[in-house]
Amino acid sequence: MERRDKVDIDSTGYRKHLWDVEYSTRKALPSSNTFHPSSSLRRFIENHPEVGKDNALDLGCGNGRNAMYLIENGFQKVLGIDISTEGIEIAKQAQNEKPEYKNIKYIAVDVSTALESVSESFDLIIDMTVLHSLTKEAREKTVEHIKRLLKKDGYYLIFTLMANSPAVIDLMSKNPGPEANSYRFNFDDDIITEKAFTKEELCEMFKPFKLVEYEEYQTVTRAYKGEYPRIYTTALFQNS
Ligand SMILES: C[S@@+](CC[C@H](N)C(=O)[O-])C[C@H]1O[C@@H](n2cnc3c(N)ncnc32)[C@H](O)[C@@H]1O
Repeated sequence: MERRDKVDIDSTGYRKHLWDVEYSTRKALPSSNTFHPSSSLRRFIENHPEVGKDNALDLGCGNGRNAMYLIENGFQKVLGIDISTEGIEIAKQAQNEKPEYKNIKYIAVDVSTALESVSESFDLIIDMTVLHSLTKEAREKTVEHIKRLLKKDGYYLIFTLMANSPAVIDLMSKNPGPEANSYRFNFDDDIITEKAFTKEELCEMFKPFKLVEYEEYQTVTRAYKGEYPRIYTTALFQNS
């Protein structure tokens, strides 16, 4: 990597670097250290047997833990997209564990770019803690693709970070980021940027989808060698 003072920390290349380090050596996040599915996805699958299961799209699929869970729960095909070639490499290795995992197609490209060439529509699109780490430009493009690609009556499930989290308020006061409710922090030699959301922002962003379920909970996330009191939301939208 070039010296940091010459690097554009909001470029796709720098964001890819951060995530490749995370999956290869850093392992500073809970999701990089487990193959268990996200609990909000588990609850969705248990509570929504009516969801179509022809296909699903996993945005920022990481090591593939949620894509594999979808296949185990009857989805015929899953498309998993992640910016990190290291994350996708781990996901591809895990595909050897069960023959049905071969029904997952993985793409290692920035999601806002990868979706440009996707035309099939999906019964379910999931975002398990991804939107908050995209740049504004990538997020806006990705949201438009989600609206284009969700089938009629299909579901969009998002698990994300809320702006009223004590840790977000604290980090914003120390080093605010480039947009509302965003912040930057240093870890090792890197600068990490995240953006949190309000409920109103989420509803506005995914309009005209209908918000069918919304649940917040507060926890302490152990990440980046620290403890962060955070509020997370699971929001379920439907293209009804
Ligand atoms: C906190 S991890 C969650 C991973 C996965 N969703 C899970 O629950 O295990 C965030 C993921 O978003 C991916 N990501 C970040 N920016 C991305 C982008 N622009 N395009 C695609 N994936 C991205 C990262 O590589 C990482 O795998």
